[in-house]
Amino acid sequence: MQIITEPGQMQTIAEKLRLNRQCIGVVMTMGALHEGHLSLVKLAQKTAGIVILTIFVNPSQFAEHEDLHKYPRPFENDAALAKAAGVDFLFAPEAESIYPENYQTTVTCSAVAKRFEGEMRPDHFKGVATIVTKLFNITKPHIAVFGEKDAQQLAVIRRLVEDLNMPIKIVEAPIVREKNGLAVSSRNIYLSIQERDAAAILYKGICHAKMRVAEEDNNLQNIAQEIEEMINATPGCRSDYVSFVDETRFEPVETAEKGREYRLLLAMYSGTVRLIDNGKIRA
Ligand code: PAJ
Repeated sequence: MQIITEPGQMQTIAEKLRLNRQCIGVVMTMGALHEGHLSLVKLAQKTAGIVILTIFVNPSQFAEHEDLHKYPRPFENDAALAKAAGVDFLFAPEAESIYPENYQTTVTCSAVAKRFEGEMRPDHFKGVATIVTKLFNITKPHIAVFGEKDAQQLAVIRRLVEDLNMPIKIVEAPIVREKNGLAVSSRNIYLSIQERDAAAILYKGICHAKMRVAEEDNNLQNIAQEIEEMINATPGCRSDYVSFVDETRFEPVETAEKGREYRLLLAMYSGTVRLIDNGKIRA
């Protein structure tokens, strides 16, 4: 596995791979690699001949008060995990080479990025859309794998690729969960043992929704409220939002139509740690 830090060098390599008719797959991460990230690598390897993994803790997607500076950066361990997973190129640039002095351009996505995470974290999706565009231009992939774990981010990236005519196939990877149902996340290290146990309520909420919809209850607003109550009744937990949305537009839906698929979005605090999760629900 080759480790590259310079955007220009990564572009030259990607260009050569393309000239040699290699299919390039990219997996973008902020590092602190875990099972979820590695499942994306596996999926990329199934479709693409060459896999580029990017590790970059992107400052522009963090708000002032967020955890940019304490975000875990175990680079040596990440590189070892990437190598063991069979990654071909690890692209890990410094912030200065991605956002040099006098950097001015951003990419924004409107409706789909507006609510939920977009409302809770203003400018977050602008930072994501900008870095994803830049990393696409640097790694020149044919396919890119993103996790359903960040469902709204995935919807924003799908819009970005379609709206800006980027010739890249977006592949979505299912959520990898811990034994208790908690979605694996780099931020789970911030949780104490009690907070981690309590956080399993998110997955219980998704299971509750599936059960209630299977009972043919089409009142999604009521079901979302039941889940909020379940979360708020769990010691140390506080619901941030629970809502069913239309998969592509990310608009809230109150009543289910038989045969249609929705996404249940959940965000909550376990102690002071903010966690998000989601699940597909078919009516
Ligand atoms: P990060 O949080 O490191 O996640 C990188 C990728 O891994 C994303 O596509 C995310 O959805 C996926 N992922 C995270 N946890 C997962 C899990 N438990 N199961 C399956 N996939 C999971 O998302 C970002 O970084 C950044 O916003 C990025 C896209 C890299 C732009 O900076």
